[in-house]
Amino acid sequence: MKIYVYGTGCGAGALIDAAMPAERVAAFVDGQAQLNTFLGRPVISPEELAGRKIDLLIVTAHQAERIARELGRLGVDPDRVFYLKNHLAPVDRNRCYALACEALGEDYVNHICCSERLIRVPLRTERETITGPEAESDYVRLKTLEAICERLAAVPGHAAELGVYRGGFARWINLLLPERRLYLFDTFSGFDEAESAGCGAGLVGAHRMTGTERVLSVLPYPERAVIRQGLFPATASGLEGERFALVSLDVDLEESTLAGLRWFLPRMEAGGFLLLHDYNNPMLPGVRRALERYEKELGRLRAVPLCDVNGTLVISV
Ligand SMILES: C[S@@+](CC[C@H](N)C(=O)[O-])C[C@H]1O[C@@H](n2cnc3c(N)ncnc32)[C@H](O)[C@@H]1O
Repeated sequence: MKIYVYGTGCGAGALIDAAMPAERVAAFVDGQAQLNTFLGRPVISPEELAGRKIDLLIVTAHQAERIARELGRLGVDPDRVFYLKNHLAPVDRNRCYALACEALGEDYVNHICCSERLIRVPLRTERETITGPEAESDYVRLKTLEAICERLAAVPGHAAELGVYRGGFARWINLLLPERRLYLFDTFSGFDEAESAGCGAGLVGAHRMTGTERVLSVLPYPERAVIRQGLFPATASGLEGERFALVSLDVDLEESTLAGLRWFLPRMEAGGFLLLHDYNNPMLPGVRRALERYEKELGRLRAVPLCDVNGTLVISV
């Protein structure tokens, strides 16, 4: 079977780690990729799909609506396209479940379908900024961020994200808190090699596929961003006197998470929030271990776990 995978990000990495070895992929498809290969396979642009024999094209990216239009223009047979993130459509756009089950296994396909079928209702606030399909990539996470940002009006301090990757979440922080400086800490070239030893090749490979230019290009107010590139906590040097109102901590691994908790929490303003991503994500158990180590060392935190896709813990300062 000639299988193509649309996307070179975390969705594609997770697919490879969970359901399909990279060797089975004819090519990954990404119009913005920084590298020509991903997990040892070629990366082609969407335009290069035109005229190819495609048995199955698995779309791992979130913007299913836009990608469906793009594939239509390129003449790709919609019966051969399987959208893992199908939830933007009011009706199911997938027509090739049998093919997807053949390639990925029935259990995986069922799991994907169920986890994408959530009921969403809008927030009832006067200042709703994230609306429509934009809010759908992780509805609970994004709408909680939006509600939290409203509560920060009287809280001084900067915003920051440790673990930025492609700026998917930083973009919303920047949009919701346009007046605040936004510190962005990341290597922008993937995890520390020693710390990520033993992690899935898909997870590690996907996080190399980014760069600072790409991140700045998705921010609505890039002039408010301060990029701190390299391994944290060394990259926080010189910022010891800064104070923070909102921090997103999303580094997936134990030691880096613990370093983030230790560095940021003492520098947060009263009334601020630290969002610890992946606290309830069984795929990344180091995050919870880091929180437990921190609490053992410095006492129990006031926190609410969210039922978002990867189990964020909202720590209230
Ligand atoms: C899951 S991604 C972040 C995703 C992003 N917050 C989002 O929601 O779109 C994790 C990121 O943490 C970064 N990272 C992990 N440990 C780090 C460390 N010690 N210093 C800097 N960056 C680190 C990786 O490079 C990777 O880009």
